[in-house]
Amino acid sequence: MWRPALEIWARKLLPVPWLLGGSRRCVSSNFKAADLQLERTQKPQKKPSPSEPLLFGRTFTDHMLMVEWTQSGGWSQPRIKPFQNLSLHPACSGLHYSLQLFEGMKAFRGQDQRIRLFRPWLNMDRMLRSAQRLCLPSFDKRELLECIRRLIEVDQAWVPEAKGTSLYVRPVLIGNEPSLGVGNSTNALLYVILCPVGSYFPGDAVTPVSLLADPAFVRAWMGGVGDCKLGGNYGPTVFVQQEARNRGCEQVLWLYGPDHQLTEVGTMNIFVYWTHEDGVLELVTPPLDGVILPGVLRQSVLDLTQTWGEFRVSQRKVTMKELLRALEEGRVREVFGSGTACQVCPVHQILYQGQQLLIPTMENGPELILRLQMELKAIQYGTSAHKWMLPV
Ligand SMILES: Cc1ncc(COP(=O)(O)O)c(C=O)c1O
Repeated sequence: MWRPALEIWARKLLPVPWLLGGSRRCVSSNFKAADLQLERTQKPQKKPSPSEPLLFGRTFTDHMLMVEWTQSGGWSQPRIKPFQNLSLHPACSGLHYSLQLFEGMKAFRGQDQRIRLFRPWLNMDRMLRSAQRLCLPSFDKRELLECIRRLIEVDQAWVPEAKGTSLYVRPVLIGNEPSLGVGNSTNALLYVILCPVGSYFPGDAVTPVSLLADPAFVRAWMGGVGDCKLGGNYGPTVFVQQEARNRGCEQVLWLYGPDHQLTEVGTMNIFVYWTHEDGVLELVTPPLDGVILPGVLRQSVLDLTQTWGEFRVSQRKVTMKELLRALEEGRVREVFGSGTACQVCPVHQILYQGQQLLIPTMENGPELILRLQMELKAIQYGTSAHKWMLPV
């Protein structure tokens, strides 16, 4: 059941308010969940058996949500249809000029068998902001979320039950302009697909990752679009990820600027838990200055740790020089990434300028990481209502 939640359309994830004013050209009418049409599949697929490992993004549910938009007609009625291929014009602007954005969020089956989405309002905020950055049509976030809720309801039997599993929700919006000029799309397509996914860390153990930190590679820059979830931000990272693997590392630590600021880890936000130079125990993450993606888990880690009130929680630049000094002086406790896929993921090594830096995250418990995992899981799989969870 739809319940309007209050904090929900939090401004926290909207660091560039002027974008919301948007150009009027980019704004169209809204679609309404009340107009949803449902066409059930005649050929339901076999659901994966609970004993099979669910690899990320390989298994899709029986249905998808689809809404089309044209400049002249606005949004069409939203439709839940059997999962199927798209038919696109070969000049489709989403394919040629990366007029494409997406979101990623998860629904969890709680111990009480109820399915709940984790802070989906923040994903809707971010999606609308991404759409406005690409001059793709605006939409009513509440209506889209209600359509997504209904889609999950239709495919609820696909939400896995095993420990640590969830349903990954992937909304996508593409420009579907059938001509080659670089400009505003006169056609767009919004769709949502669902994937049952396994646990990121099998069992209760958390496995740390090693990182390549090479300032030759830059993910995002000031004035760019690193703070939006655009497909164009991700394609070019595949090469760098491969380079990391060639150099014996699992993921990339994205550095920025002449002072080699730590910005993100692979597709996660980064946190450092240490005793700061001023002697104060602190959890720090880079600020939302336009280069950083405003992660839902980032915000959740900040919110939880601020509530505990046990150490200083800061949003501030962190440079490699500061990290090197803190490592030398034995002040670093834990370094970790945060994201929808893993929740929080420990970092134990960073290859930087030919030096293998050993981060004592695992030696330190990792106390903070395990506590965050536990609290997040309790909220996501819990039996009681929590203001961060939207019941499906
Ligand atoms: C570049 C980048 N940073 C951070 C994140 C974490 O964001 P969230 O916590 O919303 O999953 C993601 C996740 O998709 C990402 O792609």
